[in-house]
Amino acid sequence: MARPILLPWRRVAHPVDWVTEFDREAPLHLEIGFGDGRYTAARALAAPNDDHVGLEVSGTSVLRALRRLRREGVGNVRILKAPAEIAVRQLFAPASLVSITVNFPDPWPKERHARHRLLRVPFFRLASTRLVPGGEIRLASDHLDYVEFAREEAARSGVAARVGRAAPPEVFETKYALKWRAQGKPLHYQVFALDGTGVPVPEPLGRHVTMPHALLDGGWPSDAPFAKLVVAAPEGHVIVHEAARAVGETDRWWFRVTVDEPELVQQLLVVAQRRAGGEVIVRLESFGDPLITPTVRAAIGVVTDWLESSGRMRATARNY
Ligand SMILES: C[S@@+](CC[C@H](N)C(=O)[O-])C[C@H]1O[C@@H](n2cnc3c(N)ncnc32)[C@H](O)[C@@H]1O
Repeated sequence: MARPILLPWRRVAHPVDWVTEFDREAPLHLEIGFGDGRYTAARALAAPNDDHVGLEVSGTSVLRALRRLRREGVGNVRILKAPAEIAVRQLFAPASLVSITVNFPDPWPKERHARHRLLRVPFFRLASTRLVPGGEIRLASDHLDYVEFAREEAARSGVAARVGRAAPPEVFETKYALKWRAQGKPLHYQVFALDGTGVPVPEPLGRHVTMPHALLDGGWPSDAPFAKLVVAAPEGHVIVHEAARAVGETDRWWFRVTVDEPELVQQLLVVAQRRAGGEVIVRLESFGDPLITPTVRAAIGVVTDWLESSGRMRATARNY
């Protein structure tokens, strides 16, 4: 049976075993921000002996592209709803990719927003460890400033060399390419060849570890108003926005938490629940399917500390 085109990446082992996923060993290409997927489909159909993975953060775009890929019967593509910064690190083994295509990335034109741009030094260096030596980042943009910015960042990264090559025609036929062309804007194309030999290889973040949890004895804190907590952890910040109890329940509390790490911001729910034996367990709710990073684990500790600070509870185990 054919595998689904949309890969539920949070539920599979990391890095993904793409050979098993595509049921063959073939050159693997990545596209970031595929939008409506028309380039993705065209390219995959034109290169049936290669495999193609697409990343996109917009749910609407993912559904649109999924319909297109199904309609066009494209078998050698998987698409993922995932941000590139985390997916490139998390889902691809070192030296597993031949190319990374970025067609018309969000330009973030204001200078103070430049830190949101994808093609900055950290990304070039990360990508250089996931690409084969000499593997390419291929950038198309209507925004000359962005292209110049990427060229400067590539040079600063020390791992990327500019390659002079004209754009394949389908690159200038994407939804955004057509939009900008219709407005008479010039379109630009720049290829970078990467060689990350010698660059430290970032490991994927922790995943599939024992579920972090803590155990406490004692009675619940009083219903005094909850004050938002902001706690620094070694690799980010834990922000506990509010504590709540479900209607009619006395023995289950939820904490709405933001975990802010340099590469990933996640919203999650931490639950504290009394078990049959009387102890209270603090753990993650599966809601939102969080990726268990060091700061997510630290969030269990922050909630546990808060419960203890009431003076009515005492932690008997901390496993996070
Ligand atoms: C200007 S659109 C271009 C879409 C398509 N490539 C095209 O040319 O028609 C940029 C796309 O990148 C996606 N995007 C932005 N940041 C992203 C990220 N960090 N990871 C993956 N996709 C991202 C956006 O959702 C948007 O669909």
